[in-house]
Amino acid sequence: MLSIFVERCRVAPCPKPAWRPMQAVVPFGWPRNMAVITATKSVRRWVHRRNPWRHGTARQETSIETVAARELRCTLARMPTPHISAQRGDFADCVLLPGDPLRARFIAERFFERPELVTSVRNMLGYTGTFRGRRVSVMGHGMGIPSVSIYATELVKFYGARTLIRVGSCGALRADLALRDVIIAQAAGTDSNVNRTRCLGFDFPAVADWSLVHSAVDAARSRSIAARVGTVWSSDLFYSPPSPLFDRLESLGVLAVEMEVAGLYGVASEYNASALALLTVSDHLRREESLDSIEREQSFVAMVELALDVATR
Ligand code: HPA
Repeated sequence: MLSIFVERCRVAPCPKPAWRPMQAVVPFGWPRNMAVITATKSVRRWVHRRNPWRHGTARQETSIETVAARELRCTLARMPTPHISAQRGDFADCVLLPGDPLRARFIAERFFERPELVTSVRNMLGYTGTFRGRRVSVMGHGMGIPSVSIYATELVKFYGARTLIRVGSCGALRADLALRDVIIAQAAGTDSNVNRTRCLGFDFPAVADWSLVHSAVDAARSRSIAARVGTVWSSDLFYSPPSPLFDRLESLGVLAVEMEVAGLYGVASEYNASALALLTVSDHLRREESLDSIEREQSFVAMVELALDVATR
């Protein structure tokens, strides 16, 4: 018999990390991949037995009853969610959302008074602190609509966040935009299917919260930042194959391409929260220009200052 030890298997909602050795026993002589499959199944069963989330099998994932029961468990037990290990109350009402978790740390360390790390599941760092005397949080949301949708949903649904402000970058489409320009994303179209799924197969208007747009315009004016207000396109592909789509989008007045805003606005609509995205132009898709890393950081700082103005208005 061949024993396979799977170590350091963490069970999600335990108050303290519980690292325990696992053992799956498979007959000697089985092909290696069979052994791995058996071990994986055994780990799943083990995690499933001990995990109150019980999200180990596809059948349970799709059962409405189980999803509702999981939400209830989470709400009543004040448990961390599958992707966030903070306790309820650890996040402020307003959460800034950069894509990169290290940018979240940068924002917390540079701008917050007494920043506290409140979650680090998958190294997706989240912090809460104060800024100008107001409690505010920041958390990375990763890349793409599926990732931002997970974090945004858990923040609003389980952690009580009411205002989500994405601070990110984008690739400009229009000739009248330049590197470092700031875009206030009033609305987002997408090639992703998430909002159609949300809207029973029909188009859904993914729009920013009007009062946040208004605050951002005011804040930009008082900082003498010539921000552009308009529509952006959230693409599932960063490396897109050659396509006439960008020409079409440009002629339809879309300012820039990025990868998350339509998902964020969809989640905010679904949970009656407020969302806004502020984007700096880091690349020009027509002129093949891009900012270097130092310039990216400088323009990022200016945009975060604007976002914090909006967050504390
Ligand atoms: N495409 C998608 N997202 C982006 C880009 C881009 O060209 N630039 C910065 N974020």
